[in-house]
Amino acid sequence: MAPSRRTSKRGTSLAGRATTLLSPYASVAVAAVVLRLFLGGTMLYAGIDKILLDPRFLQADGAGSIGQTLRYFVTSGGPLAALVEAVALPQPVLIGATMAGAQLLVGVSLLTGSWVRYGALLGACISLTLALTSTWGVSPYYYGNDLPYFVGFLALAALGDGGVLRLGAPARGVHDPDRRAALVSGTGIVAGIAALLVLDRTRAISAIAGGETPSPTPTPAASATASPSPTPSVPAGDTAISGASGLTAGQALNFSAGGTAAVLIKDGSTYRAFERACTHQGTSVDWQAGSGDFLCPSHGARFSATGQVTMGPANTPLRPIEVSVAADGTVTYRR
Ligand code: FES
Repeated sequence: MAPSRRTSKRGTSLAGRATTLLSPYASVAVAAVVLRLFLGGTMLYAGIDKILLDPRFLQADGAGSIGQTLRYFVTSGGPLAALVEAVALPQPVLIGATMAGAQLLVGVSLLTGSWVRYGALLGACISLTLALTSTWGVSPYYYGNDLPYFVGFLALAALGDGGVLRLGAPARGVHDPDRRAALVSGTGIVAGIAALLVLDRTRAISAIAGGETPSPTPTPAASATASPSPTPSVPAGDTAISGASGLTAGQALNFSAGGTAAVLIKDGSTYRAFERACTHQGTSVDWQAGSGDFLCPSHGARFSATGQVTMGPANTPLRPIEVSVAADGTVTYRR
């Protein structure tokens, strides 16, 4: 029996090295770390994007603002539409800042391995809320991205931190002062940023950026805005679109149609105009001269030159604006 046992141990030893990564513990750890890195990194980026990178988001109104997004949630009629209208719509900036702060917390929790189960459950709540508002109307459902995030967060909540790459989690009775200090500092920084954003977003960004205060830059639409200057060739009730006569086939011009971000394209010899707000969540679409269609930078929806949806998650066409061309070539719009 003894030789047989030695052979068995040797065999196990040889095979063990090759299969270490496939052991139940390692599989759980690898799965947890993969989920933590992807979901945590995404949440951290989403929070930073809302707070620092996108000057339009934390605004009560305007293209790409949280105010516009919330109004879209209400009009799109998801299960939480009434709640959004009653609670979120009256205070859009606070809601946007809270959302961004929660995403930052989830990101920090998952990436540092601190209270990962709680962070994952908070992430699941965020994703479920978005699935019931933002992507509720997406059809088929698998075009919506919030549901898979929700399931991913639930899976991570079940897995936990995987037992590796932990910064702040209590290590089974071991209290590491450095880890605790790092965790408390990180949480304090995130909480401070969130509080400053609620009180004064401009001051918060200035403090983070070292004095340089980003401000919403004028979009091409704003710079191309026509100050309506009726001429004898402009029909009553119409407004001339400044610069439109210089368009060549395949080109586009962003303009303001009575305060609404709009875009005029010249498709062959035909002028067409649309509101730029994507019919998914309101982000401004951009004309792609190369492919001859509109692209929404948020979730990749595409619209043809006639405004029809060619790729989800949007499922309704761009809103058209009536345009006409006067005898002298002046292009006008009517609202
Ligand atoms: S806002 Fe989601 S695709 Fe445009």
